[in-house]
Amino acid sequence: MAKEEIALLWGSRFSKELNEDVNDFNSSLPFDKILYKYDIKGSVAHATMLCHQGIISENEKDEIIGGLSEILAEIESGKLQFDYNFEDIHSFIEANLVKKIGATGKKVHTSRSRNDQVALDIRLYLKDEIKEIQKLILNLIKTLMDFSNNHLETIMPGYTHLQRAQAVTLAHYLGAYIEMFKRDKERLDDTYKRVNVLPLGAGALAGSPYNIKRNLVAEYLGVDSICLNSMDAVSDRDFIIETLSDLAMVMTHLSRISEEIIMWSSFEFKFVELDDSYSTGSSIMPQKKNPDILELIRGKTGRVYGSLTSILTTMKSLPLAYNKDMQEDKEPLFDGIKTVKNCLKILPDVIKTMKVNKEKMLQAAKEGFLNATDVADYLTKKGLPFRDSHNIAGKLVSYCINSKKTLDELSMDEFKKESSLFDDDIYSAIDIKNSVISKKEIGGPNPETVKHVLELNKIWLSDNEI
Ligand code: ARG
Repeated sequence: MAKEEIALLWGSRFSKELNEDVNDFNSSLPFDKILYKYDIKGSVAHATMLCHQGIISENEKDEIIGGLSEILAEIESGKLQFDYNFEDIHSFIEANLVKKIGATGKKVHTSRSRNDQVALDIRLYLKDEIKEIQKLILNLIKTLMDFSNNHLETIMPGYTHLQRAQAVTLAHYLGAYIEMFKRDKERLDDTYKRVNVLPLGAGALAGSPYNIKRNLVAEYLGVDSICLNSMDAVSDRDFIIETLSDLAMVMTHLSRISEEIIMWSSFEFKFVELDDSYSTGSSIMPQKKNPDILELIRGKTGRVYGSLTSILTTMKSLPLAYNKDMQEDKEPLFDGIKTVKNCLKILPDVIKTMKVNKEKMLQAAKEGFLNATDVADYLTKKGLPFRDSHNIAGKLVSYCINSKKTLDELSMDEFKKESSLFDDDIYSAIDIKNSVISKKEIGGPNPETVKHVLELNKIWLSDNEI
């Protein structure tokens, strides 16, 4: 730990220097350095309020803000290098301020503790990062919408239990993911409200004895409201847990869509082909084209779940208020944010550049009796209770399997043998295209319906622009 830091922060109470290993173990600077600009922003707002309240003079405020602005510029230009002997970003910046402007620099910490300072820094950092992630989610949604627009009539099988179930379209299939990512964006909106709260003014835990005005600091920082309990302000990290939980959900959805495309690009499916620029080869098997990028997204999902679990476990059973355990919130949070951003950045391009094999998809939808439910629905529309219709359709499927036929290859006599309700219109009712068209109520795969939903989603997009 740097000597000037100890002297500045708490040295007078101690008679020995900190053990070197303890120093490395204790320091969060190697990772919390990324908070530097939020730390400075918070200090500027705090000093401005202290001056407004007459706690420091106008000159002192100007000196402090001048020094902090220089530090910001020097960190950004690389002129000021981080010294890992410091305990954290807060003490590093404060010590540099004192080095720059002398004793006045020490006044910036009036009515403040690193406990409310760190809570503020993370909140300000998260406000930016949440918006960044939301922009990336919106871009992914746009990509999926554009892609879907070209595949309103691309028929493919829909699955349950990974068994071919009923015919849908590629636009409808991807539409499911559009809905998931919309909710992900909205979940982050909600979390943002609870992040956008000011802890500063809580002090170490028991508030401030100075004539401060927390509302002013909130106003300077563009923070919507203030934490109403000083102990809560410095001791909870639920806003981090909530953000990581939202991100874990984003990763669940990214992982599922990646898995679909991995399967679709396999030799067994051959529904899509990934662009060479987003695939990798094998060092031993020359024929291989591997979906590594998608596999990595799937794999990194575990990493984000790990971050969430880590911070949940850290917070469990901690007594109020601040405990150093909470320094362990940062690495999982930063890693989670970085990972989600990287995945969201790369997936849209993988999708944009992949080729769809419409014939293969259609062929797969035609095989496997995906229209068996349409046979049952046909009979039900003619008055038969659905359970009985289902039974008859089942018998016909079994007959087809034994006689190696598809349902549309059955003769009228073969249909009639099972029910006299069958008529010539059965053939158009079980045509795979008509099967898709028939599901026209909103939420269904009918191309006009999906087009309408895409229009609704365009409105959603313009309402959700950032
Ligand atoms: N580096 C610390 C953290 O990340 C900052 C708060 C330190 N507070 C304290 N009382 N030691 O949690």
